[in-house]
Amino acid sequence: MSDFLPYAYFQGQFVPFSEAKLSVATHALHYGTAALGGLRGLPNPKNTNEILLFRLEDHCRRLSRSAHYLGYDLPPTQIKSLMIDWVRQNAPQIPFYIRPLVYTSGLGIAPRLHNVDKDFLIYGLPLGDYLSPQGVSCRISSWQRQSDRSFPLRGKFTASYLVSALAKTEAVASGFDEAILLNDQGKISEATGMNIFLVRNQQLITPSVDQDILEGITRNSVLQLAQVEGFQVIERPVDHTELLIADEVFLTGTAARIVPVARLEQYALPAPGKMTQYLQQQLQAITEDRHPDYHHWIDKIPLTKS
Ligand SMILES: Cc1ncc(COP(=O)(O)O)c(C=O)c1O
Repeated sequence: MSDFLPYAYFQGQFVPFSEAKLSVATHALHYGTAALGGLRGLPNPKNTNEILLFRLEDHCRRLSRSAHYLGYDLPPTQIKSLMIDWVRQNAPQIPFYIRPLVYTSGLGIAPRLHNVDKDFLIYGLPLGDYLSPQGVSCRISSWQRQSDRSFPLRGKFTASYLVSALAKTEAVASGFDEAILLNDQGKISEATGMNIFLVRNQQLITPSVDQDILEGITRNSVLQLAQVEGFQVIERPVDHTELLIADEVFLTGTAARIVPVARLEQYALPAPGKMTQYLQQQLQAITEDRHPDYHHWIDKIPLTKS
């Protein structure tokens, strides 16, 4: 088990992580009725008494919208202020990952969203590379990404990660690092916790938001960055066979950042390809607040010395 950062925000207060414990009867545990967030933070390389958070407001907005599906009114401003308090409380000295969670906290039986209490918690852990930034192997999963008719895919709900977990374990059991899921139309959707991009003939292509994807914040950052850099960017449905002949493929996500795909089924790919490497470098500079054009994507949280 990984180490965790010392304090959790739990039941309305900051408590030592080891004291943040839930009842076995917690509703969300039984019915998947929880929504999560996930952000990376790091000490500012130029001033370790300051923490850098990447696109904090966008993460808070997405979590607030997910909470909305659960019938819980949790404004982004409230999430943001608690996240900042959590960072100050923990004062991390290494790169870390923050996990906020909105969940049905009541102890009742029966899947429903009415007449059940909801709550919000935050904890975090140190996090290095989630997948190798040098490149990963991917298979096409036998599991299908849920469709928007059967699941609210614009939220980030714990229940959807059953399919991610099945696909990931299937991929690892068959000798791959990661899985790519098709949607119910047989088009490329995304990986188990990452969006997907391909490069063909210098064009950057990614499945559009109607392809049953999670609207990833890293995906959005890559799209904005590529557009500003003058790359030709296309959001559209992507066929399975098109992916197999791509010049470059990469995955994007908060935990994974930008990860090149080095092997797709039995086909080798350059890892990182030229465009992938360029975007990787740009994103790294942005998250370390070294990129002059993207300071607005970074929140700097000063740590008060105790
Ligand atoms: C299923 C899924 N798709 C895509 C992403 C990428 O989203 P983001 O870039 O906002 O982290 C995630 C991240 O957690 C995810 O779980």
